[in-house]
Amino acid sequence: MNDGKPVSESRVEIAQLMMPQHANPMGNVHGGDIVRLVDQAAYTAAARHTHRNTVTAAIDRMEFLSPVYVGNVVFLKASVNYVSHTSLEVGVRVEAECLTTGVRTHTATAFVTFVALDEKDRPAPVPPIIPETEQDKRRFDEGKRRHEERVRHLASRREEEQQRIPRPDTMPKTS
Ligand SMILES: CC(C)(COP(=O)(O)OP(=O)(O)OC[C@H]1O[C@@H](n2cnc3c(N)ncnc32)[C@H](O)[C@@H]1OP(=O)(O)O)[C@@H](O)C(=O)NCCC(=O)NCCS
Repeated sequence: MNDGKPVSESRVEIAQLMMPQHANPMGNVHGGDIVRLVDQAAYTAAARHTHRNTVTAAIDRMEFLSPVYVGNVVFLKASVNYVSHTSLEVGVRVEAECLTTGVRTHTATAFVTFVALDEKDRPAPVPPIIPETEQDKRRFDEGKRRHEERVRHLASRREEEQQRIPRPDTMPKTS
């Protein structure tokens, strides 16, 4: 395990043109399509930071602040806010731009928690994150508070253990 990686080493921005398949018949983009892009951008930042298989453990409540239409471009800026032991929080800012007027607006903010896994699919340690700017430091402190809140929430609903679905290639052959 090294001493950590700066936020700037894993930060990503992706852009996606919204097409009819992303929208309802009135041309309003589905919230679920935005969530898929959020997960994709957040995963990319998490994987660039950890260089491990990482899985989405939680997406915090998302609110959509303004509509997005077919023909708009959606920009997703993702960066690692906070690293705990085997989990990390990635913050994603979603903006949409109208290609006709050039107006660009903040559409949503999301916080996605990933857990890094080892070769046996067990939670594995993640390198620490090094906040560089004042904004990185503020996001780190806020991410830490949210992580502590999630841990409290998890502890309160973990009375019964569930069986895990096995990875298909580890299952015994039936014929
Ligand atoms: C995420 C997952 C690996 C956690 O496994 P687990 O056995 O509960 O792990 P642990 O209790 O040892 O916790 C490991 C870490 O995950 C975090 N974690 C576990 N469940 C979490 C949740 N629901 N939300 C946020 N963090 C969570 C813990 O806080 C801990 O973090 P830390 O090591 O940084 O302190 C497991 O629940 C899983 O595989 N979920 C499915 C993930 C997936 O497939 N996602 C795609 C959508 S289906």
